Amino acid sequence: MKVRSLIDQLDADHNLNRSDYELLLKEWDSSDAAYAAAKAVIWRQSYFSNKIYVRGLIEFTNICRNDCYYCGIRKGNQEIVRYRLTEEQIMSCCREGYELGFRTFVLQGGEDAWFSDERMCGIVSAIRRKYPDCAITLSTGERSRESYQRLFDAGADRYLLRHETADAEHYKKLHPPALSWEHRMQCLQDLREIGYQVGCGFMVGSPYQKPEHLAEDLCFIQEFRPEMCGIGPFIPHHQTPFAQEPAGSYELTLFLLSILRLIKPDLLLPSTTALGTINPRGREMGILAGANVVMPNLSPTEVRKQYELYDNKICTGDESAQCRDCLETRMESIGCEVVTDRGDAPGR
Ligand code: SAM
Ligand code: FES
Repeated sequence: MKVRSLIDQLDADHNLNRSDYELLLKEWDSSDAAYAAAKAVIWRQSYFSNKIYVRGLIEFTNICRNDCYYCGIRKGNQEIVRYRLTEEQIMSCCREGYELGFRTFVLQGGEDAWFSDERMCGIVSAIRRKYPDCAITLSTGERSRESYQRLFDAGADRYLLRHETADAEHYKKLHPPALSWEHRMQCLQDLREIGYQVGCGFMVGSPYQKPEHLAEDLCFIQEFRPEMCGIGPFIPHHQTPFAQEPAGSYELTLFLLSILRLIKPDLLLPSTTALGTINPRGREMGILAGANVVMPNLSPTEVRKQYELYDNKICTGDESAQCRDCLETRMESIGCEVVTDRGDAPGR
């Protein structure tokens, strides 16, 4: 009964304290998750009706200077073939995406020094000039504040940088010593102050994660109030130190999507590819738990397999149009409609 009353409280006030989140995360069961999902969907519909926003994802480089223990494209993975798209290839992905009706492009990649501020600003401003009606989202990891500012001035509107975990000790268990939780948090703060629409997020079931850590994540999100939040299950990759770790829970990911919708009813909340990888209907179920964004892949088919963050990632063989059509059909099957819209955070 306590869990239900906490969900009711969240539904009414959109916040809880840390110990209540902990209790929620330790004691919930599947009927509580269904209860939370029903409330989350009411909030999603009140802000977005049955509209689902699409973001065209362009994975423009799998070269990375970092060695995050969970990530399939980490520097230490000697097995993968590395690639980086040219500006022409990126522009051609945008052209294709625009024709398919996408009005947001997400440029995501490893931390690849070749994409200096100068080169990145060149690409961002070329997209901005050619597609003034589109939003440009970047997800290229940690950069200096000055670099974020230059990219913003060149025309980028949004930045996705998952905080990965709001607990500094847990962060150390997922990353090598060269990376710090404090710097990650500073980056999020800088992005916010510069004026980006900011997305944070975390993996569900990352190694060593405990309900206490997730409670911390929820408190952080409640306080930081990001415009977007990307969560998906951790899935092991065979060429990482976490190869033998179990994948995150599908049910818990859905429950957390509902909780996030209740914390911030207007949140831009993707139903992620990782969720679709651990369950064939994961992305539909994510929407039915409260998510309102899908991110079809626009990367050239020949490089898709090389951006394998985790094993068995779906959609690595499809053309962009197939990905778009597939998601459209999936969304229609649950009574939702994929829209051609920049899909800004409400109030922007
Ligand atoms: N380099 C950029 C950054 O650090 O933000 C963007 C690319 S990074 C691969 C994007 C996200 O993928 C990470 O923030 C992480 O949460 C997620 N990811 C990486 N490895 C994963 C795995 N094994 N399972 C699930 N998600 C993973
Ligand atoms: Fe750099 Fe994953 S370690 S993108």
